[in-house]
Amino acid sequence: MVKKQKKFVCQECGATFSKWYGRCPNCGAWNSLVEVETESTKGNKTSLRSLPLSKVEVNNVHRLTTGIKEVNRVLGGGLVPGSLILLAGEPGIGKSTLASQIGLNLAHKCTVYYLSGEENLPQIKLRLQRLTSSLPAKFYLIEGREIAGLENLVIKEKPSLVIVDSIQTVESGVLESQIGSISQIRQIAQQLMDLAKRYLVPIIIIGHITKEGRIAGPKLLEHMVDTVIYFEGDSNHQFRILRAVKNRFGTTNEVGLFTMEGSGLREVANPLTLFSSQLKVAVPGAATGVIMEGDRPILVEVQALVNPTVLNIPRRVAQGISTNKLIILSAIISRRLGLPLGNYDVFVNITGGLRIQEPAIDLAVSLAIVSAVKQKPLKPKSAFFGEVGLLGEVRPVPFINRRLKEAKRLGMERVGVTRPTLLRKLAKTELGY
Ligand code: TYD
Ligand code: MG
Repeated sequence: MVKKQKKFVCQECGATFSKWYGRCPNCGAWNSLVEVETESTKGNKTSLRSLPLSKVEVNNVHRLTTGIKEVNRVLGGGLVPGSLILLAGEPGIGKSTLASQIGLNLAHKCTVYYLSGEENLPQIKLRLQRLTSSLPAKFYLIEGREIAGLENLVIKEKPSLVIVDSIQTVESGVLESQIGSISQIRQIAQQLMDLAKRYLVPIIIIGHITKEGRIAGPKLLEHMVDTVIYFEGDSNHQFRILRAVKNRFGTTNEVGLFTMEGSGLREVANPLTLFSSQLKVAVPGAATGVIMEGDRPILVEVQALVNPTVLNIPRRVAQGISTNKLIILSAIISRRLGLPLGNYDVFVNITGGLRIQEPAIDLAVSLAIVSAVKQKPLKPKSAFFGEVGLLGEVRPVPFINRRLKEAKRLGMERVGVTRPTLLRKLAKTELGY
């Protein structure tokens, strides 16, 4: 017999306890414990079954392609039936737009359910109308926000895709806790997981990220789902990156690139159009770098401005790379190249708003600065990648061939560095001073 059991769940961290505490012993939050009833299965006499590997049947998964190449790529080929996918990102980044576009594409062929706890149906329809010229007949908006109701609909109508926007705004009647609370989120994720697995329907759940970059809800949400994809970007810029951080059905190295346009998200085939000034003339202070986002090489333009300072301590202002990196590279250039920057402000910007942590960008940043100091432009159609060390040496970085290939594809004729060299020498030959 199933026995009802009481336990206390922390609404901040999701830890459970058998008794109430004023302060959560796990995360230290005050007044965060809420009583919930669970069903104990202890004492249940069910037995498990053991199967030799040879008897385990593997069905060939038929992935549902979304019609958006960049999304398919990140998912490892398409949506796997029965998978639960968490699409996470900051508010306003375009999660609802992306999920809607996936749904609209599929709804020409098969039934798609879209449940939104955030917007009312007319609002959603208006958004969908912005995204497509012809609304597909098989796109259904679900009224209400109760997961049990959604379950009944799915069981009855067997849609091919369900989108839940967002997990923080739907509710499970099983628990009395507040919508958006940790215990609700956990319960809903569990119910959706069961639903997806039992009826082999892929379910995309949208989850908001807090300012600190965590999915609002416990980390355990990430553990529960099959796939976690993050939608990132800078809301001041157009480009968006879709990145898998967990994927039970594919690799996590693929990224998808989009721009947010007036009529929704558009796939980016040539990132250079996005990450460069596209000036037709060569200007001092610009250098093209080749960085990796997961498995994907991306060409970006680094811009540098070097100006006599009016302050006692010269400024180092970096956008798209860390200020620390800029301080170090400026010091290396001062010392190892004999170009003292002590009386100069140095500003560096990565065009397009991309944030880069990879050391491979060092070389392009350094050359852009030297080019700005010397007031000499780099040769056209050159791209660079390499890590710059404190000795003034340039070291090769991984994925050389992939970077070279992408640079060639985008029309670059000269690419450095594939062998160790000195920055001083390289800058002299590239800039001709
Ligand atoms: P949205 O998908 O609602 O973001 P999220 O669900 O992640 O909170 O998109 C938010 C922004 O995108 C909003 O500020 C308006 C803009 N947008 C466009 O620029 N073009 C469009 O076609 C749509 C639908 C939205
Ligand atoms: Mg939204």
